[in-house]
Amino acid sequence: MSGFRRLFVMVAAMAAPALCAAAKPDIENGKATFNTMCSVCHSTQKTGGPIEGPNLIGVVGRKAGSQPEFPRYSQALKASGLTWSKKALNKFLVNPGEKVPGTFMPMQIPDDKTRADVVAYLATLK
Ligand code: HEC
Repeated sequence: MSGFRRLFVMVAAMAAPALCAAAKPDIENGKATFNTMCSVCHSTQKTGGPIEGPNLIGVVGRKAGSQPEFPRYSQALKASGLTWSKKALNKFLVNPGEKVPGTFMPMQIPDDKTRADVVAYLATLK
């Protein structure tokens, strides 16, 4: 029994940091992923950068389809009634076309951890 107890304590001690790491998003990884998958269309600077997609500064807290300088939003996104909380972004980015049928946003992030990292990075864009 005491052997089992010791084993249990060891396993718990080993698992705890891993669980914490999983719960805490990695903003640097989110940024690197964004630079690979998203930055070709979305600017994260106040001026300049690509214009294929809307500028994402301040996206968390913004109404979907409301970036004033972006002229080519789909009706679907404008009419979605969404406001970009972290939770809403997380759901959208799994598969934008499924969450908002008719959206022009093409990129999907199916992996839960990677997506959480990207959303955490988006929340830093202010
Ligand atoms: C090929 C260009 C392209 C790529 C790559 C792309 N997007 Fe988009 N994105 C768009 C377009 C265009 C829209 C506007 C969609 C619409 O109006 O339906 C959009 C919209 C969005 C929105 C909603 C913004 C708003 O103002 O409501 C978010 C958030 C977003 N993209 C995040 C991302 C992320 C994160 C990635 C990378 C995983 C990414 N996008 C990759 C083109 C792109």
